[in-house]
Amino acid sequence: MLPIAYFPRVCTSHFGNVIFKSICFMYDMPIVFDEDYDMFLLNGKSTTYAFGIARKDMLLSFYWGPKVSTTDEIPLVNMMGGASFTNQKGVMPLEFNSAWGMSYVENCLKVEFSDGVRSVHFEYNGYEIKDNYIKEEQIVPSTPKNSNQTLIIHLKDDKYAFEIDLYYRLYEELDIIERWMEVKNTGKSQIKVENILSALWNFPVYRSFTRLTHLHGSHSHEFQVARTDLAPGKLVLDSRRGSTGHYRNPIFMLDDGEANEENGHVYFGALAWSGSWKIVAERTSHGYTRILGGLNNYDFTYNLKDSQSLITPSFFGGFTQGGFGGASRLLHDLQTTYILPENKKDKIRKVIYNSWEVTTFSVNETQQMELAEVAAELGVEIFVMDDGWFGERNHDRAGLGDWIPNPEKFPNGLGPLIQKVKDLGMEFGLWFEPEMVNPDSDLYREHPEWVIKFPGREPDQGRNQLNLNLALLEVKEYVYNAVANILEQHPGITYIKWDMNKSICDMPERWMWYEYVKNLYEIFGRLRDAFPYLHIENCSGGGGRADMGLMPYYDTNWTSDNTNPFHRLFIQEGFSMAYTPRIMSAWVTDMGSFDLKYRFYSSMMGIMGIGANILKWTEKEKRKAKQYIQKYKEIREVVQFGDLYRISSPREGALTAVEYVSKDKSRAVLFAFKKVSDLSDDIIYIPVKGLKPDVKYIAPGFMGTVEGKAIMNQGIKTSLSGTHSCHLFEIKKQE
Ligand code: GLA
Repeated sequence: MLPIAYFPRVCTSHFGNVIFKSICFMYDMPIVFDEDYDMFLLNGKSTTYAFGIARKDMLLSFYWGPKVSTTDEIPLVNMMGGASFTNQKGVMPLEFNSAWGMSYVENCLKVEFSDGVRSVHFEYNGYEIKDNYIKEEQIVPSTPKNSNQTLIIHLKDDKYAFEIDLYYRLYEELDIIERWMEVKNTGKSQIKVENILSALWNFPVYRSFTRLTHLHGSHSHEFQVARTDLAPGKLVLDSRRGSTGHYRNPIFMLDDGEANEENGHVYFGALAWSGSWKIVAERTSHGYTRILGGLNNYDFTYNLKDSQSLITPSFFGGFTQGGFGGASRLLHDLQTTYILPENKKDKIRKVIYNSWEVTTFSVNETQQMELAEVAAELGVEIFVMDDGWFGERNHDRAGLGDWIPNPEKFPNGLGPLIQKVKDLGMEFGLWFEPEMVNPDSDLYREHPEWVIKFPGREPDQGRNQLNLNLALLEVKEYVYNAVANILEQHPGITYIKWDMNKSICDMPERWMWYEYVKNLYEIFGRLRDAFPYLHIENCSGGGGRADMGLMPYYDTNWTSDNTNPFHRLFIQEGFSMAYTPRIMSAWVTDMGSFDLKYRFYSSMMGIMGIGANILKWTEKEKRKAKQYIQKYKEIREVVQFGDLYRISSPREGALTAVEYVSKDKSRAVLFAFKKVSDLSDDIIYIPVKGLKPDVKYIAPGFMGTVEGKAIMNQGIKTSLSGTHSCHLFEIKKQE
C-alpha cells in the first residue's frame, strides 16, 4: 500500500487560494498513477479523467474533460468543510461514497452488518492496473482489445471483513470508461447490501453542466428525447418493473446548455442493465452536478454470506467536444466494436418479413406459405413467423408457456413451412415469449408455483399473462429448454424473436430482482453458445428492453410496436441518441396513410423489414417494393456500418434529415422528410457532414465531381413540396 503523504491538487484554503504548487507529471500509458500526488489519470484519445486519494478515507474527483498533458493542467479542488450541518463528505466532489456519517448526498453503497451497524467506513487499500482484464463472473461480457487497460481500486472497511473494488476499464480510442463495483464479504457473518450502484460521475464546476438529455416514453412511444435543466436537488430516472422499460431508458447526456448536434462539451453515459435500474442526477447545494446509477434499490436487498461477493452491472461514461451527435457516434462505436455478439457484430443485417400486424394470432401453414412466396419474390431474406403458432394461442388469453406447434394450424408441425421458406431461398425465424405464461395454459396448470407472486395474493396480470420466476433454478432450466428443444428439432430455424410483454411486480424475495436478470443473460448466453448460427432479435412489446446489458447477446432490437413511418422518425431519432442503427429494426407496414416511398425511406434508416399485407399489394406496388428493397440492399452497408449524423430533427422543424457516412468516407446516404406542406421551405439546402473535405465526390445537384468541403458548405439542394414528401440522396467518392 502506498503512503498517503500528499493531498494531491487539493488546497486547504477556504478562499480558493492556490497553496500547493504541483510538479509536472508526464504520462506515457493510458492509465497511470502519479505517486507524487496520489492521483490516477485515465487518458483517452482526447480526454482525461482524474481522481485521487485525498485522504485515506476519501477519494476525490479532480477532473474530467479535454485531454491534459501534465497534472499541472488539472484544476485545484478546495478542501471545504461546510457548516456544523455537514462536513467534507457532504461537500466535496467524491469519487465514491458510502452511507457514512454526515454525508447526505446520494450514496453508491449502503449495507447492514450482522450487528445492525449500517455505515461503511472504507479506507484505501491499494490499486492494480491490468491489461486485457476479463472477469469471469462479470455480468456484461465485453471483448476488450489489447489497448484497453483496467484500473482496480481496492477499498476495505476499517473494522468489518468487507471489501470493495472499484473497476475502471478504459476504451482509450473512444474516450469511454466502463465502471462497475464488486463488494465482498470476507468474513463469516452475513452482510446485507441495501444499495449498490455501479458508478458515480462528477462534472466540472468551471461551467455549469446542468442540462440533461434523456429518453422517455411509453409503449408505442419509446425513445422520446427530453432535454431539461437540472434544478438544485435530484432528478431520478428509473425503472422498478424488473426490466428496462419503455418509460425511461438508462442513458444520459449532460451539457452546459451550449452544445448542439455537432459541437460542444457533452458528457454521456449508458447503464448496461436490463432489470430495475436507477440513475440519479443530483445538483448539490455546493455547486456540483453528479450522476449516479446502477441497480434500483427499491425493494432490493442482497444478503452476502460467508465469502460471497456481489458485482454490479457496468455503467459506461464518456466525454466529447463533438456535441450530442459526437456522443452518439462514440456509443455506437462502443456497441459495434465491443458490445454486440462477436460472431455476428460485423455481419450485414438482412431484410425480414413478419406478418404480425396483418395476421396477428391467426397464423397457419397455408397462409404463411403464401406470404413467404410473395416475400421471396420481393427480395426478403428472412421469413419470421410471429405469435400464434403454438399451444392454444388463438388470442392473447391462452397458450403462453406451451411451446408446441398448434396441431390445427400446423398439422405436420413446423417442418413443412421451414422447408418451404428454405426452398424459396430465405432463412426462417420464429417468435417466442419464454419468460411468460398465460394462466390458461398447460404449463400454468402444471406449475402454478413458477410464477412471480407473493404467497396468498393474486398477482396482477398484464395482457392476460404472468411472469415466470427466472430467479428459480428449475424455471431457468425450463425456459432454456423450451427454446433449445425447438431449435434442436428444427436446425432450419436460424433466427428467433425473443419477446417480453409484461412488467414484473410482486417479486417474492428482494434478491430475485437481480438474480432474474443474471439468469436471463445466462440463458441468452447458453443459447448463443449452443446455436452459434442463431440471429437473436430482442423485443419487449416494442423497445421496452433496449439497453447495453442484454446487447452482448442479441443482434437486432425491435424498436417499437408503433410502425407509423412518420412517428418512427421521432422514435428512431431517440433510439439513435443511444443505440447504433446496426440493431435498429424498422418495418414497412400498413400503419397510417403514407405512400410506399415514405414507408420505405423511413424504414431504410435501420434494419429494414416488411410487415405489411403483401398479399394485397398490386403488381405495381410489388414492382416498386422490389426496387426499394434492392435499393436498400445497395445502401445498407453505409446505414448499418457507417457514422450517423442527425442533421435536422423532427422535433425542431418541418425537415427531418439524417445522414449516414461510411467509415472510410467514400459513401454517404442522406434521408430527407418534410413534415408539413408550406411554401417557404420547399427548396432546402441540407448541410451534410462527415465527408473528407479535399476528396472529390459525385453528389446530387453538383455538376461533375465536387470536393467534400463544397458539398458540406453548400449543402444538398432539395425540393420537398407537399406534406410527407421525402428524398434519398447518395454521395459517392469519385473512383
Ligand atoms: C409484442 C411485439 C410485437 C408482436 C407481439 C406478438 O407486442 O412487440 O412485435 O411480436 O408482441 O404478440
